Amino acid sequence: MGVKIPTARLSNGVEMPQIGFGVAALGNGKEFYAAMDSALENGFRMFDTAPFYENEAEVGDVLRHCSVPREELFIATKLPNACHAYEDTLRAFDSALKNMGLDYLDLFMIHFPVPSVGKYPEAWKAMEKLYRDGKVRAIGVSNFQEKHLQKIFETGEIVPHVNELECNPYLTVRPLCNFCQENKIRVINWFPLGGPREPLVPYPTDDFKVLLDEPLLIQIGEKYGKSSAQIALKWAIQNQITPIPKSANPKRIRQNTELFDFEMTKEELEAIDALDHGRRLGPDPDTFDDMEMG
Ligand code: A2P
Repeated sequence: MGVKIPTARLSNGVEMPQIGFGVAALGNGKEFYAAMDSALENGFRMFDTAPFYENEAEVGDVLRHCSVPREELFIATKLPNACHAYEDTLRAFDSALKNMGLDYLDLFMIHFPVPSVGKYPEAWKAMEKLYRDGKVRAIGVSNFQEKHLQKIFETGEIVPHVNELECNPYLTVRPLCNFCQENKIRVINWFPLGGPREPLVPYPTDDFKVLLDEPLLIQIGEKYGKSSAQIALKWAIQNQITPIPKSANPKRIRQNTELFDFEMTKEELEAIDALDHGRRLGPDPDTFDDMEMG
């Protein structure tokens, strides 16, 4: 049955697993189905998708037919960038539910703020309606900077329950994480392992280092009998952040659940924090406005 993954309580009392399974890079073919089976078998209960990942329907399909009761699953998807108008947000939510064959979602997030369009406060109003209507158990944002959250605080009524952002020991975004935590917004981190070993686009500089080859993570891992990946994931968890690692490999999927039998010291966590050099590999939320995405 795999590991029993503990949960964290969101500000509205909803329990969310302390680690989720990221499906962004898994496609929707054989590899995806095998990875989903392995994730479920090893104890993953939280699944994070989006229309842009082209596997929203397949995620719904697997989870509808798996042996885990619906109430033990935590299913999240996101609002596409082109749907920030109020009515479009409501429609996008309905079509996500239909696409996944579900009666409700556990979490719905605005995928990107798209500041150049500036309609995310309008989208948030619609998210609030979906939440109040009981169609979704928690609502959140993704890739929001502090100023975008401030805007939501001014114009909205509900503080987002989560903010899902790119974050790992090389990009700790500590001020933003602190701001979220001060406001009881749970941070979920994507690219928790530093993203794919083979870059999606060429990496910009010669001094590029693969996070999982980082000597400090390997060294701390040796002390606990864990891999550098497990150290990166546990660093997030001990910082009250929920990682959503991607893996298509059954052994690594299993490894990514074996995190709850050790605790790092405060000094070790601080040493990992010091690895931060602000290296972002994904899109910059301040300028990203691709309407095909999301
Ligand atoms: P693979 O699918 O071959 O396991 P991120 O979640 O930051 O995007 O990073 C995921 C990358 O790290 C993937 O390329 C994945 O490759 C790899 N990965 C996932 N889990 C582990 C692990 N436990 N050890 C090493 N590499 C891992």
